Amino acid sequence: MNNTRHLLSSVQLGPYTLPNRLVMAPLTRNRAGDGNVPVTLNATYYSQRASAGLIISEATQICPEGQGYPYTPGIHNAEQVAGWRLVTDAVHAKGGHIFLQLWHVGRISHPSLQPGGGLPVAPSAIAPEGDASTLSGPQPFVTPRALETAEIPAIVENYRLAAENAMAAGFDGVEIHAANGYLIDQFLEDSTNHRTDRYGGDLENRARFLMEIVEAVTSVWGANKVGVRLSPAGTFNSMSDSNPQALFSYVAEALNPYGLAYLHLIEPRPDENSVSEDSEHSPLTCDYFRSIFKGTIISAGGYNQELAEATIAAGNADLIAFGRLYIANPDLAERFAVNAPLNPYDRSTFYGGDEKGYTDYPTLQLEKV
Ligand code: FNR
Repeated sequence: MNNTRHLLSSVQLGPYTLPNRLVMAPLTRNRAGDGNVPVTLNATYYSQRASAGLIISEATQICPEGQGYPYTPGIHNAEQVAGWRLVTDAVHAKGGHIFLQLWHVGRISHPSLQPGGGLPVAPSAIAPEGDASTLSGPQPFVTPRALETAEIPAIVENYRLAAENAMAAGFDGVEIHAANGYLIDQFLEDSTNHRTDRYGGDLENRARFLMEIVEAVTSVWGANKVGVRLSPAGTFNSMSDSNPQALFSYVAEALNPYGLAYLHLIEPRPDENSVSEDSEHSPLTCDYFRSIFKGTIISAGGYNQELAEATIAAGNADLIAFGRLYIANPDLAERFAVNAPLNPYDRSTFYGGDEKGYTDYPTLQLEKV
């Protein structure tokens, strides 16, 4: 729109003036402490990355049933709120901004991770392909239990309570994780939603669960501190829809009246290292949604500095989220500013473990010492 639109220029996001347009993408790292409580090590990791314009936390379960992997943090009890306070204080001490990503995995879980060893819940009793990640290693996914209509308000209420907890923990806002084949996405897409009640069938019905959650969460935070993440072309976690263009156009349009802080879109960019197996020729890119969604857009997926600058300059997105580059480069913004080389990431330390591959990636300053 003007010549100040570049990655390292400031941008308004809801009520916040961010110093740059880099977003640290939400990244599950499976390093929470006992009871799925964030610990000092997590605070160190996030504070190292506080020069990002915005940090979005790793996906965080809103209730015990929402957990699908070992050692992922929660935001449903007082200990977890206190643990997250370590993180938000550490990020704020460095002048950063951090949103919490609200998560319920739905069917992407396993009885061994569920309270009482129960079945994971989902819109319909359809099992994903592949294995769940459990404390004892990969185990085949089970067929989830379809939620009763009468159970759904309690889940929406759990999102609202988790949003309140996120506020108590000192976050600057929250992102509703409606992407990557987790519970909300399972309601949106018709391969996983075969319901015949008001939460299944036409687009309005399939989007109802998301919209009720948006209403619950914005009632706590105000819309301008709430974002929504979607993966319109994603196939991760055995996802598909018979008409993703119609579905996600509908959803983006339906989100307009709320005046959200942003819509966060994962690009359909095939990449041999990509965590998702996105389709190659999907038209569902951020520039497509630009004409539909009337607010701020964050785009993610396979970006490097050059592509990010081009996307911002073209006006196709307002901010760019980086995932794997942020894992390996805590000072990504500073590195971009001086065109410094980037540290390569070590995939073997992505999920679980200790400080190795987590808080020990060097900054430029450290490299010079
Ligand atoms: C992810 N991603 C992800 N997405 C999300 O919405 N919540 C999450 O908790 C996670 N966790 C996660 C962990 C790890 C180790 C990776 C690599 C990815 C997806 C992530 O936010 C991003 O969309 C992708 O990584 C693509 O961006 P990059 O890595 O190409 O910049």
